[in-house]
Amino acid sequence: MQEQIASLKADISQQISAAGDMAALEDVRVATLGKKGSVSGLMKGLGGMSPDERKVAGPLLNSLKVDVADEIAARKSVLEAAALEERLASERVDVSLPVMAHPSGSIHPVSQVMDEIAEIFASLGFDVAEGPDLETDFHNFTALNIPAEHPARQDHDTFYLKPDANGDRKVLRTHTSPVQIRTMLNETPPIRIIAPGRTYRSDSDATHTPMFHQVEGLVIDKDTHLGHLKGTLEAFLKAFFEVDNVTLRLRPSYFPFTEPSMEVDVQCSFDGGNVKIGDGNDWLEILGSGMVNPRVLEHCNLDPTVYQGFAFGCGIDRLAMLKYGMNDLRAFFDSDLRWLRHYGFRALDLPTLAGGFSR
Ligand code: PHE
Repeated sequence: MQEQIASLKADISQQISAAGDMAALEDVRVATLGKKGSVSGLMKGLGGMSPDERKVAGPLLNSLKVDVADEIAARKSVLEAAALEERLASERVDVSLPVMAHPSGSIHPVSQVMDEIAEIFASLGFDVAEGPDLETDFHNFTALNIPAEHPARQDHDTFYLKPDANGDRKVLRTHTSPVQIRTMLNETPPIRIIAPGRTYRSDSDATHTPMFHQVEGLVIDKDTHLGHLKGTLEAFLKAFFEVDNVTLRLRPSYFPFTEPSMEVDVQCSFDGGNVKIGDGNDWLEILGSGMVNPRVLEHCNLDPTVYQGFAFGCGIDRLAMLKYGMNDLRAFFDSDLRWLRHYGFRALDLPTLAGGFSR
């Protein structure tokens, strides 16, 4: 018996190491450990043996079975590693090849404008922060000093999800301001971030779509004041609209999460249907802003007697429309290839401050 097992074992080992691919190895497994396999056949024979015979043969057969399984597993990992090597070698991309001469597809104006904004604020020392589109009521409202029953909730045309087992309803974030909360809860000041992203409100006409884009700005430090807000916005708008001067008008307004709050208009002119930003006799409202309300700082465990800061929120789609001259926001999200070809940006042209934005 012992000899029979030893020679079977040698035979199987030889087959395992000869298996050149996974299919061949699987054949060996079926022929040995499979239901009708040689090892399984011997195991079945145990039933017909006398107790004494079984005492000897049982452990021998068991270790044969275990050894064969181990050898197959070892061979399997060798074959897998070799297959992976082969795949990596065959899928190698030569990144030093010259780029495609005529790439198809183009960058959507919203992506372009987001890149431009990130580039400008990076030069001012801002990081880019992100938050989820599906927000908790706490981050989207309560922590921003909009408690339940606050009338400001009604202005937001909120999309609510079904309540969970605790009765909590998540919302599609109605603005990027919840990223302020997430950032203040996770970081220690000084904080300087922008947060571009998607936002949602149940609203639709030529200048409103249910999904749109905003960029939030937040600065928190020990001696931040309104002058910093105004200077930051001026630097941003000058760079964004590529003009030497912008004149801003800060109009008193109300947001629950800022105090004081102001809406910001830029001076402009409408000549022959085209807006020109920078000078003129008209004003365009472009963003909401203010000094972060002390109650918001408290919700984020920051001491308002030590820290203060400013925040602003601005519609990205609207900035794109103003800068690149589209007049219907809905077309942004229609996926009409003619529109995309006309208004899209060259795929490999990343906007940089040094290289210029809108060549
Ligand atoms: N979250 C405001 C809105 O969506 C904009 C805003 C952001 C205002 C930050 C002030 C400060 O209308």
